[in-house]
Amino acid sequence: MDFFKRHFMVPLIAVLGLVAIAYIGVAANLQLVFGVVIPYLAVLIFFEGLIFRVISWARSPVPFKIPSTCAQGKTLPWIKRNLADKLDNPENKLQVFGRMALEVLAFRSLFRNTRSELQRNQEKPEDSRLIYWSYKWLWLGALAFHYAFLLVILRHIRFFAEPVPHWVTALAEVDGFVQFYTPTVYLTGVLMVVGLLYLLARRIYTPTLRYISLAADYFPLLLIIAIGVSGILMRYVYKVDIVPVKQLALGLATFKPVVPAGIGAIFYIHLLLVSVLFAYFPFSKLMHAPGVFFSPSRNMAGDNRWNLHVNPWNYPVKFHDYMHQEDEYREAMIEAGIPVEKEK
Ligand code: HEM
Repeated sequence: MDFFKRHFMVPLIAVLGLVAIAYIGVAANLQLVFGVVIPYLAVLIFFEGLIFRVISWARSPVPFKIPSTCAQGKTLPWIKRNLADKLDNPENKLQVFGRMALEVLAFRSLFRNTRSELQRNQEKPEDSRLIYWSYKWLWLGALAFHYAFLLVILRHIRFFAEPVPHWVTALAEVDGFVQFYTPTVYLTGVLMVVGLLYLLARRIYTPTLRYISLAADYFPLLLIIAIGVSGILMRYVYKVDIVPVKQLALGLATFKPVVPAGIGAIFYIHLLLVSVLFAYFPFSKLMHAPGVFFSPSRNMAGDNRWNLHVNPWNYPVKFHDYMHQEDEYREAMIEAGIPVEKEK
């Protein structure tokens, strides 16, 4: 089996295997296991794993200032600094907050991502050109998937809360405003799967990307696609009775689990896939979600001219920070035309 087939087929078989396990489990009357035991275990693993990893990241010392850019433009009067420049090179916590908010809410780095390619001119090599391609489709696909996923999850609150909060009902109404089918089609559910299919196709059809893609890249994509497809099938094709589903969900949420009869196998398939996603999350690349907040190149201000960053594992050393150096050489710097923080 070649590299691609091995890394794609194993997760595909794993996801199909999960579908089969849930199907057989329901036929063997194991609703209690698939409706209560496995979901509780999955949520336990999710929170324990998430908290453990986040705490260990939060405790990792950061030896250097790694803002990836310098904010010293503030000191250099000939460098223009409008709002976008300040978000690129934040000099204080407020500007870092702005950069992080754009990163999390709009995937700003992905929007600005480029790929370079050398277009060779065989006859006249000196006329070869370096071309920069942008990744706007990737940005759009990723944004569509993530927002759709978020809205689908928020809409699911209607199963776990009684009475259903007004904003959840309002969200569902907006989401289903194009009524061309009964039951109302929720656009975000469909958009989520379309976004995922694009992300998967891109990974398979871009040769360089396929070359570096492992089972750990395909598995989460296939798993979430299967969750979306099973949900869509459950709503529009193999319909389930929502009343017992809500009893089960409310039972889970209030820690008074019940297993009502009459829920179709498709629901347990959906729930097992979701449980596996929860349990897998803390050990997977999906941890990029909390991870972005710990990324030094995103969360640090480039302020080392004004604030000394001390390496936490340094033995006690006598620091000679920038401001002391400037105090020492101020006159010489001014004479040489080097910008200074303080004139005196
Ligand atoms: C990661 C979590 C989950 C995702 C991504 C997800 C995704 C989806 C999607 C895309 C649909 C299609 C309809 C729609 O757009 O709403 C759906 C339907 C459904 N999901 Fe989920 N789901 C998740 C978790 C759950 C859980 C924990 C339950 C347990 C109660 C559940 C129960 C259902 C039911 C009953 C339907 C059919 C809805 C209907 O007939 O109106 N889902 N899900």
